[in-house]
Amino acid sequence: MQTELIGPRLRFSDLKPPPADFRREVVEGLRLPQKTLSPKFFYDAEGCRLFEAICDLPEYYLTRTEIGILTEHAEGIARILGQGGTLIELGSGNSRKVRLLLEALRPAVYIPVDIAREHLLAASRTLAADYPWLDIHAACLDYSEHFEMPFLPDVQRKVIFFPGSSIGNFEPAAAENLLCSIAQCVQPEGGLLIGFDLKKDARLLHAAYNDSAGVTAQFNLNLLRCINDRAAANFALDRFHHDAFYNEPQGRIEMHLCSESCQQVIVAGETFDFLDGESIHTENSYKYGIEEFRSLARNAGFEPGHCWCDRNGLFCVHYFAVSSD
Ligand code: AVI
Repeated sequence: MQTELIGPRLRFSDLKPPPADFRREVVEGLRLPQKTLSPKFFYDAEGCRLFEAICDLPEYYLTRTEIGILTEHAEGIARILGQGGTLIELGSGNSRKVRLLLEALRPAVYIPVDIAREHLLAASRTLAADYPWLDIHAACLDYSEHFEMPFLPDVQRKVIFFPGSSIGNFEPAAAENLLCSIAQCVQPEGGLLIGFDLKKDARLLHAAYNDSAGVTAQFNLNLLRCINDRAAANFALDRFHHDAFYNEPQGRIEMHLCSESCQQVIVAGETFDFLDGESIHTENSYKYGIEEFRSLARNAGFEPGHCWCDRNGLFCVHYFAVSSD
């Protein structure tokens, strides 16, 4: 592990997987009968920019609703989480949401974790300038594969903050595994503050992933550009289109990229055939009922604590304490 001191109270550890792992995962996904690419590949610099633009879209209610909940309940959240601990944020992105909690929570250390290296570095630098009293130790790593923090300060109470409904991008079994690893990380007396999107009218969900400005479509298509850049591929972006729909029985939004014709694409030296209309499955975004999510968390070794929802019942921010037995 390589750790650099970037500022008086800012350290950075780079644990990002090597490019060969990226190419292997891409090729393995495209060899499946339902061609699949992991949503973690969305987040190059342009992908991060497009995702931030999605967060501000009128149809994408998730971000503003969660921000509303965190803003309204910051003091109550801090009372439950306690001050002076270690706060670890998974998928910290621009660290916009943690800012709503920092003054109330006053953690001893904040550990933002993200796979997008440059974005993480830039966000951590700005945060360090804005909160000079805070120790920050940023970690660039892929928490979706196998989550383990290679370093942790000697501060007793650890809380993982996992906002944005990013847990929804994991298959339920993988979500439970990740929650198990989180429980291991925060034991014996820590917890998890997590934001997840609630099941709701399919029309609202459909609109959130099919915005009228076409930003989600650009975000989805940008994945092909990332793969062209990082896996020596020759996808023609204008020969695929965005498709997103709510799969009600599975309780998830599915995003796909559909081929507009029969075509061949070369990726890392291997040729892939596409039928007219054939899709690459690029993302699932699971929506949960509160009880459904509690049962997932219980199976992973957590006890449900307090939860905060908006008045329209769109989104939930939930605290879970690690079980003592
Ligand atoms: C990051 N994640 C929680 C987003 C979601 O809603 O599943 C990613 C996204 N995909 C399309 N729009 C937003």
